[in-house]
Amino acid sequence: MNKSVRLDPAPIPFIDLAAQRRRLGQAVDDAIARVLGHCQFILGPEVRAAEADLAAFCGARHVITCASGTDALILPLMAKDIGPGDAVICPAFTFTATAEVVALVGATPVFADIEEATFNLDPDSLARAVAAARKAGLKPKAVIPVDLFGLPADFDRINAVARTEGLFVVDDAAQAFGASYKNRRVGTLATVTATSFFPAKPLGVYGDGGAIFTDDGELAQVMRSLRMHGEGVSQYDCVRIGMNGRFDTIQAAVLIEKLKIFPEEIAARERIARRYSAGLSDVVTVPCVAPGSTSVWAQYTVRLAPGRRDALAAALRAQGIPTAVYYAKPVHHQDAYRKFPVVEGGAPVAERLAGEVISLPMHAYLDEPTQDRIIAAVRRALGK
Ligand SMILES: Cc1ncc(COP(=O)(O)O)c(C=O)c1O
Repeated sequence: MNKSVRLDPAPIPFIDLAAQRRRLGQAVDDAIARVLGHCQFILGPEVRAAEADLAAFCGARHVITCASGTDALILPLMAKDIGPGDAVICPAFTFTATAEVVALVGATPVFADIEEATFNLDPDSLARAVAAARKAGLKPKAVIPVDLFGLPADFDRINAVARTEGLFVVDDAAQAFGASYKNRRVGTLATVTATSFFPAKPLGVYGDGGAIFTDDGELAQVMRSLRMHGEGVSQYDCVRIGMNGRFDTIQAAVLIEKLKIFPEEIAARERIARRYSAGLSDVVTVPCVAPGSTSVWAQYTVRLAPGRRDALAAALRAQGIPTAVYYAKPVHHQDAYRKFPVVEGGAPVAERLAGEVISLPMHAYLDEPTQDRIIAAVRRALGK
């Protein structure tokens, strides 16, 4: 008797790090082998070379690599002596590290709302959050806008509020290195920019890593010292309290190779994002990129009508298609952060989006047939 056999479709990776590994294999292996040859595992020559390559890529005058994106955020706050009694405004819709670093230096994160179209910090809400901070008896010292999912925040408007209020601006570009805003690359949009080289980021390495970008030479020198225990003329004669925030030489060697193909990968991500938007814009709310900006598409995140997300995720999962929700809980609703102030009127946009967003598989090696399978599955699940 003939039995019809139902073949389960092959599972699709959410981010396919192995595809890039196959492409870069030998070049990265050789780069790592060079480090194994010279044995300068800490602050070896590749670290300075990676910093120079990153500076050339984005146009920032000074680049300080460090051990993670989180360290890249905390070092500028330490350099500015931000601490107890100070307020730092953060968007409510982000990965918690944005606010975590504020609490770690003893300052108070104050949460502002985001813009519905871009998921990024709302400059009007920022201005109101500064007022809320003062009302709570805090000194507003800084703001950390986040370039969420790879799209730069609205820096013209944010920097204008920051100038009026005297705020230090640290761009949390953990997800957005490689993107641009008004013909300027991320790394040059704020006084200081922090990024992450976590493996799943658009420019990731094979472990943890991060970098800080600034045009301010004095600040760069202080942050470089803080990264190495607050060293003065040497690490055995310290001039400030610092930390061990160094980037590994092996990871720097990996980064140098990855940066060589990054422009091609950015173009591939852009092509894939456009194909998603063309295939889905009549069934979901697709991401919006303001004229003059480019995203580096750390995530391709769509919005659904309320209450439809779980069913879509389940239908896709059944067909081997993974999804993710960034972020199901805004930061100010998480237990560790409930005690911190929120802008008056709260963060209703962040709260609404947390219930409606879903991210689809996205990486530079997503081929067209696989993407077509994802698009068709989303359309089917939403009844189109
Ligand atoms: C917005 C944001 N900020 C900060 C970080 C922290 O980066 P890292 O994991 O390299 O410490 C991340 C990483 O996921 C992030 O997405």
